[in-house]
Amino acid sequence: MAVGVAIVGATGLVGRTLLRLLHERRFPVRELRLFASERSAGTVLEWCGERLRVERFAPERLRGLELSLWSAGAELSRQYAWEVARRDCLVVDNSSAWRAHPEVPLVVPEVNPEALQQHRGVIANPNCVVIPLTMLLKPILQRWGIRRVVVATYQSISGAGQRGIEQLQAELRGEEPPVRVAPWGIAFTTAFHRLDAEGWSEEERKVVAETRRILGQPQLPITATCVRLPTLGAHAEAVWVETEQQPELEMLRRHLGQQPGMVVLDEPAAQRYPHPAQARGSDSVYIGRLRRDDSVPAGIIGWIVADNIRKGAATNAVQIAELLLFGGH
Ligand SMILES: NC(=O)c1ccc[n+]([C@@H]2O[C@H](COP(=O)([O-])OP(=O)(O)OC[C@H]3O[C@@H](n4cnc5c(N)ncnc54)[C@H](OP(=O)(O)O)[C@@H]3O)[C@@H](O)[C@H]2O)c1
Repeated sequence: MAVGVAIVGATGLVGRTLLRLLHERRFPVRELRLFASERSAGTVLEWCGERLRVERFAPERLRGLELSLWSAGAELSRQYAWEVARRDCLVVDNSSAWRAHPEVPLVVPEVNPEALQQHRGVIANPNCVVIPLTMLLKPILQRWGIRRVVVATYQSISGAGQRGIEQLQAELRGEEPPVRVAPWGIAFTTAFHRLDAEGWSEEERKVVAETRRILGQPQLPITATCVRLPTLGAHAEAVWVETEQQPELEMLRRHLGQQPGMVVLDEPAAQRYPHPAQARGSDSVYIGRLRRDDSVPAGIIGWIVADNIRKGAATNAVQIAELLLFGGH
């Protein structure tokens, strides 16, 4: 059964990737409508040889469509997601607006697909760091048990959207960027997401809260420091997992390599490990640098790399839609 689909935020980094993915994955589309703000209404985007005109978003314009994939920021989702869902158009939302809401499932298809059964029309796509992290932690949790998790992220500036990339490119040319998403600059340096009065960034709080929710471990001891880098293509994460039982490294590599969507790239002697340039454009979550953590009674250290626009956002959203509408693809 082909469906009517809307992409809300179609001109952005995630929106344009959603467009590509619908084609790549042969998603059965009856009709495709593209929405953005007034700024880019009228823009023409190509899809499967067709020229589609971007419309200014208004909830009533989605009438008659069965599915909407949103990547237009939390404010728009907060305002209109339920209005659209009430008109029988499913909402899969990439923003953070509804991720903590008890009536909105927060789903990574490889980790907690069962959560989708509780949906009431709006489904939240998790944070781009959290999706790969939970894919690593779930098999470890089930097989060896987890006592505590510490995460340090190395995030592409593309996580701040098109404006993040534009800031980096302008700085590299020696020009003043049109908008500064990293106030102190990003070329040749690092940046944090906006900090609150207690010293935490919202990104760090999301990593803690969303990981606990997806794994169904509300008390899981987990902490994070999130950093933006002048890289493109993928986010990386160093993860310290203190376990109940000590995983044997070869068995851990084999076990992780058998998980759907995960690729183990871990050959230290050959200097082979995942890096953002190689993960860019891929839907897989790459894991490497697996080693024993001798600073705790039982534990491992690992390194995750995944394309933040694809598996960290658009791919996960399309997978959710495939599960909802067709029970998988
Ligand atoms: N980038 C990532 O790695 C990533 C990962 C996970 C989740 N996300 C989330 O996905 C969303 C989009 O991120 P992005 O990186 O694609 O950002 P982006 O490149 O800045 O694109 C934002 C999109 O939202 C549209 N938009 C903004 N305000 C709007 C409004 N009032 N009405 C309708 N459309 C509006 C923009 O349209 P105009 O062209 O008209 O401005 C554009 O299409 C955000 O919520 C972000 O947190 C991003």
